[in-house]
Amino acid sequence: MKKTIKDYELSGKKVIIRCDFNVPIENGVIKDESRIIKSLKTIKYALRKGAKVILMSHLGRIKSEEDKEKYTLKPVALNLEKHLKRKVTFINETRGKKLEEAIKNMKNKDIILIENTRFEDLEGKKESNNDKNLGKYWANLGDIFINDAFGTIHRDHASNVGIATNLPNGIGFLVEEEIKKLNKLINKPKKPYIIVLGGAKVSDKIGVIENLIEKADYILISGGMSFTFLKAAGFNIGDSILEKEKIPFCNKMLEKYPDKIILPIDVITAKELKANVKTHERFINEIEDEMGLDIGPKTVKLFKQYLNDAKTIFLNGPAGCFEIKEFSKGTKEILKIIAESKAYTVVGGGDSIRAVKEFKVEDKISHISTGGGASLAYLEEIKLKALSVIDEK
Ligand code: 3PG
Repeated sequence: MKKTIKDYELSGKKVIIRCDFNVPIENGVIKDESRIIKSLKTIKYALRKGAKVILMSHLGRIKSEEDKEKYTLKPVALNLEKHLKRKVTFINETRGKKLEEAIKNMKNKDIILIENTRFEDLEGKKESNNDKNLGKYWANLGDIFINDAFGTIHRDHASNVGIATNLPNGIGFLVEEEIKKLNKLINKPKKPYIIVLGGAKVSDKIGVIENLIEKADYILISGGMSFTFLKAAGFNIGDSILEKEKIPFCNKMLEKYPDKIILPIDVITAKELKANVKTHERFINEIEDEMGLDIGPKTVKLFKQYLNDAKTIFLNGPAGCFEIKEFSKGTKEILKIIAESKAYTVVGGGDSIRAVKEFKVEDKISHISTGGGASLAYLEEIKLKALSVIDEK
């Protein structure tokens, strides 16, 4: 078992907590604070124990000097102050005298939030390439390192792997809970176990399909990715999204698991992906020169038959382009079926979580993972460096 924050005496210690504050921000306004809220348990625990709390996170991907303004963590500091009801000192640097001085002057229960770790990517991608010196430098700022950023657990970066390899370390409550909840899908999931995959690309989900298909009873495929499967199965998919180079993979899967992979039987089509456009409900052998943009009602009914019997359900990826009303019904209906199910239900992935919120089924899902790529990587049981470097008890 991994060491956790509870395994350390924190009083008076400088505790670096790596969080995932990668939240959507528009014009300085946080659009979804769930990741911040889920991080509070670990931060509050460290404060109660009298630690000096140093928070770190990435935000977005930094490719140019201009990105810095858009991706500053300053709004997160203000949001944290609101939730913690205490001052959060924001240091608008990722290294240097100002940061070092601020940390030196910290008192117990003080909180500092360091600027976006990926600002270090501008010169030589130091954060994302896990630059050894950067990891050591950040580790030198603290006494203990706690990784509570599940969303980046599949990344090998200086702010997770780099710091952890240079300090006594453990995981926080958020990561601990993710592991506990996701392990239920790995260790003898209750059967029937059904996986619902959607989203645009097959290539994003290859690992999951290959690794989970043996464990699951059925994989229901929807969303843009279903069209590469449908093409492989011999259907005309019109102008629907296609990953041509993935057709052989889909063929292989369909040949190997003909009874396990369930594809849509009807779709909602349109000439353009936009609101107020004319749509058609088509069987999949009726698609013309148009795009499939949602699953149709007969597919919802078919998927429901499988989902009704399920004891475990994992969903990743929306069934259609749910952001546009005309193509939102499939995603909404599938989420409603899952929300009403008595099964153990887990939803992962940024788009799916947005859909869960939009259709207001949050409270009815057993576990909503804070990780998109991370939850998939965890379920694929590939070695996650940021977790593997955490000390065992
Ligand atoms: C996420 O949003 O999935 C995590 O914060 C990881 O972000 P990344 O894909 O940019 O590493």
